[in-house]
Amino acid sequence: MIGKERIRELISRMTVREKAAEMSQLWGENPDGTLMGLEQGIHRDPFLDANAGSLLGYYGAERTIRAQKMHLEKNRHKIPLLFMTDVIHGFKTAFPSVLGLAATWNPKLAEQTAAVAAAEAASSGVCVTFSPMADLVRDARWGRVTESAGEDPYLNALFAAAFVRGYQGDDVSAPGKIASCVKHFAGYGAAEGGRDYDSVQIGEASLWNDYLPPFLAAMEAGCKLLMPAFHTMDGVPCTASRELLTGLLRDRLGFTGTVISDCTAVWELICHGVCADEKEAALAAVGAGVDIEMVSSSFYDNLESLLAEGKMTMEQLDNAVERILTLKDELGLFENPYKDADPEAEQKLLLCPAHRQLAREAAANSAVLLKNEGGVLPLRPSDKIALIGPLSHSRKLIDTWGLVNSDEKDCVTVKQALLGCGQLSGVLHAPGCCLKNDCEPDAVYPDDAPLMEEALALAEECDKIVLVLGEHPDMSGESGSRSHIDLPDNQMELLSRLSQAGKPIVTVVLAGRPLALTRASQLSDALLYAWYPGTEGGNGIADVLTGKTGPSGRLPMSFPRSSGQCPIYYNHLPTGRPNRSGAYERFKNGYVDQPPGPLYPFGYGLTYTRFSYSPVRLSARQIPFPSQGAQAGGDALLTAEVTLKNEGSRPGTETVQLYLQDVAAQRSRPVRLLKGFSRETLAPGESRTVRFSVTADMLTYYLPGSGHVLEPGAFRAFIGPDSETRSFAEFFLLQEGGDENGM
Ligand code: GLC
Repeated sequence: MIGKERIRELISRMTVREKAAEMSQLWGENPDGTLMGLEQGIHRDPFLDANAGSLLGYYGAERTIRAQKMHLEKNRHKIPLLFMTDVIHGFKTAFPSVLGLAATWNPKLAEQTAAVAAAEAASSGVCVTFSPMADLVRDARWGRVTESAGEDPYLNALFAAAFVRGYQGDDVSAPGKIASCVKHFAGYGAAEGGRDYDSVQIGEASLWNDYLPPFLAAMEAGCKLLMPAFHTMDGVPCTASRELLTGLLRDRLGFTGTVISDCTAVWELICHGVCADEKEAALAAVGAGVDIEMVSSSFYDNLESLLAEGKMTMEQLDNAVERILTLKDELGLFENPYKDADPEAEQKLLLCPAHRQLAREAAANSAVLLKNEGGVLPLRPSDKIALIGPLSHSRKLIDTWGLVNSDEKDCVTVKQALLGCGQLSGVLHAPGCCLKNDCEPDAVYPDDAPLMEEALALAEECDKIVLVLGEHPDMSGESGSRSHIDLPDNQMELLSRLSQAGKPIVTVVLAGRPLALTRASQLSDALLYAWYPGTEGGNGIADVLTGKTGPSGRLPMSFPRSSGQCPIYYNHLPTGRPNRSGAYERFKNGYVDQPPGPLYPFGYGLTYTRFSYSPVRLSARQIPFPSQGAQAGGDALLTAEVTLKNEGSRPGTETVQLYLQDVAAQRSRPVRLLKGFSRETLAPGESRTVRFSVTADMLTYYLPGSGHVLEPGAFRAFIGPDSETRSFAEFFLLQEGGDENGM
């Protein structure tokens, strides 16, 4: 590394235009394929000596090496170019979408997938990924829920930190490591109506208790960059919010990394109605704390005049440029501008067997078994299978972000996997209907009637039906918000008609979001949710269907009964009129036309065996108020445990979950919060004590005006298989230095 002094000396020799260029990121190529920013580009300056400081979505070992060489030839100070792209759940080898990875409840596995993604991306010249997305999401209508780790702060935080560790390791300059950019700061998942880019209203308590924890975890893990979100928070666009990007992020949270805007988000300040033109947008964004403008050129076109007019100080620019050059220095780019870009390594690494194997394991472990009546699953070798459905032999197994770097053509379909697994004697296939894409309302589709007739005839010949349904990848992801989150009508018609055949139906659903499956569940004997399973999705699904891998996935989000229930999440406040009956009750929280609560709750998932839980046992019922030291040190205040037993005839992996409830606090608190979990694999008949330590930080919460507080009073510890478990034990945290009555 060249170090701070050399960087500052370098900055002192840069012109304002060169600094503005360093603060600009362009698309990699112009529409005509020439390199943007190196020969000509949106800066309209064909002789832009400094060129842009970084390129977006530009990768490939040979391409990046060539671009870097061209850039350094022209850059007066030999400042290397930085290649950033969206490596969200894999690079060339696509792993399950992030919501699917979260369904594994295995952060270590997510870390492994991120390390593989980093190694592949680095060999292709990528140095920064715009991941993890740390946005908590409670509304399945929002398309980007597919990129999130779901509705829980604790689970989101674990996965955000795991991704950062996987991408960065201990040193981002090390071979195969890339810098991580956490996004979208903050509260993007709370867009009104689940409509992408829409306004967000989050109070201070919810911001700290619900939406910030995953970002704090990513920062704690050392992420090098952060991206503000597109939306407004209480009317102020995040990109122009000095309160958010400087007051909170820098001054209060101490973040020292680089802040890069989202794509054209600086220019969008004009659309938000907070800036009259790009000059004001540049002033607002730099003033808020944005260091790099992604793709729009407000900075490049206006910083010189803003300085000349005294509206901006050179110190502001120098601070931004210093953070950017420090990032490049930490990546080792001043010594080796090409870092890991290497065509030979690229050839060897991308989609190599070991990476495919990990993708297969991840796909199998992300699948969540939601229903399995009469042990329809696992499939038996003697079963003659009618494999039907528009996604049964489709390569559309990767979500939209995954397609930035990976290809559907590399995917293994469910049909290929079931035919090739050697576990089944007979698999007959028919698509049954076509896969419709609501994003293309004018698309013309073939008549489904003959396809359905063919499928119905096939079903008559077979013992079981495996029906693979789902949503087209375009219908989730960015700008993929849906007002109705049902399976497409033609797919539901297919399922309904097949259900007349009198054969057991195993429905496999591939989607980027939780879908409203009430009717689909009623018509299916078994229901397996496999998200967008990635390059090895077919094999992963086949491994679960045949029992080679027992299902162990758990829902990272509540599944609504209908679109109208959104947003719905387990860690809701009790309200003054809680509905505890599970059926409609007049003058109680809920709907007239639908039972309260989700179809499938957060944390839910079945296995191929059956587990029993003993009642919750606590090591103590009255807990002395802990000293500051004990609180800071994470000492266990008590332990909570159960005896778990595998009551079935197959081994299985159960995710035992610990939820805590603060029964009475200065502010209304959620009916329960996930505070721990343990994946336990037990042989048939095996029993095991599963014990959790309860620490002070599990009992604290953020109280506006006071910060994080620990309050005496009653708490409940729930331990069970999902967020609706009713098994709990109560303990009491005594007053500081007193007893239950504060004596
Ligand atoms: C997109 C997304 C962001 C992504 C960026 C670069 O609009 O909002 O998540 O990282 O642009 O592709």
